[in-house]
Amino acid sequence: MASPEVVPLKAPLGARIEGLDRADAGRPEIASLLNRALGEHLLVIVPGERMTPEQMRGFASAFGRPKPQVLRYKRSGTVPEVSIMVSTLMADGTTDKTALRSEDWHTDDSYLATPAKATLLHSIELPSQGGTTWFCNMHSVYEALPEAVRRRIDGKRAIHSYDTSRARNRPSRRTAQEVAETPDVEHPLVRTHPETGRKALYLNFNRLDRIVGMEREESDALLDALAVEARKPEHHHGHAWSLGDIVVWDNRATMHRVDVDYPVGEARVMQRVLIEGDRPY
Ligand code: OGA
Ligand code: MN
Repeated sequence: MASPEVVPLKAPLGARIEGLDRADAGRPEIASLLNRALGEHLLVIVPGERMTPEQMRGFASAFGRPKPQVLRYKRSGTVPEVSIMVSTLMADGTTDKTALRSEDWHTDDSYLATPAKATLLHSIELPSQGGTTWFCNMHSVYEALPEAVRRRIDGKRAIHSYDTSRARNRPSRRTAQEVAETPDVEHPLVRTHPETGRKALYLNFNRLDRIVGMEREESDALLDALAVEARKPEHHHGHAWSLGDIVVWDNRATMHRVDVDYPVGEARVMQRVLIEGDRPY
């Protein structure tokens, strides 16, 4: 068996895995190579052929335990841990709601007490152009903040809400069961990566509602100031998709967003898996 190689991108985050037979991902030495690459580079790209939902669940298990996502209607019938994300742009200017939400920077699952450690996205159908997914290194965002700002936010906690008025648009409708599963939760504003010990700013422009212990106005002003740093291109890398790519990102220290800039009516379909995480600290 050839040993795969981790090739860092010339970018603020990310590495490509070259020479990996995806069927080997579950072998202990390969799984630990993949997880080390994820903790170090935060974004791991594994090129290859398209996989079935069953094969993808198997590959994803190298990163931990796959878990079904909250919105039931997205789950694939046969393998509930694999969701089918359709972000095709429709003629009426709409798209699937979650694709529009995904246009702004976010980290997946932060509205849960134990958000996903990582997300895997696997391209099944792609438009002829556009649809780049962008990633932001939240270690480097934190480290770029002035010392005084870091002192001000260290130890602060924040409320994440499924539907906050700070987000640019409203989320998908939830069933009563899904609403019951998504009460507001509190997380640290600065979290520590459990594997590398590095600190990361834990923001989510779609879910982060306010900082605990501050009036709305003061909280909004501070969150807006932090967003200015996170929106700087020097922290970003865009992934232009090839069919069959699997892209894995570390939700503990990144945000991501998608360009919904592709031609109307052209299919954009992804398979997606969330990996169980730990409570942020
Ligand atoms: C996601 C997501 C972006 C994309 O699946 O969590 O934000 O490019 N996807 O489809
Ligand atoms: Mn997302």
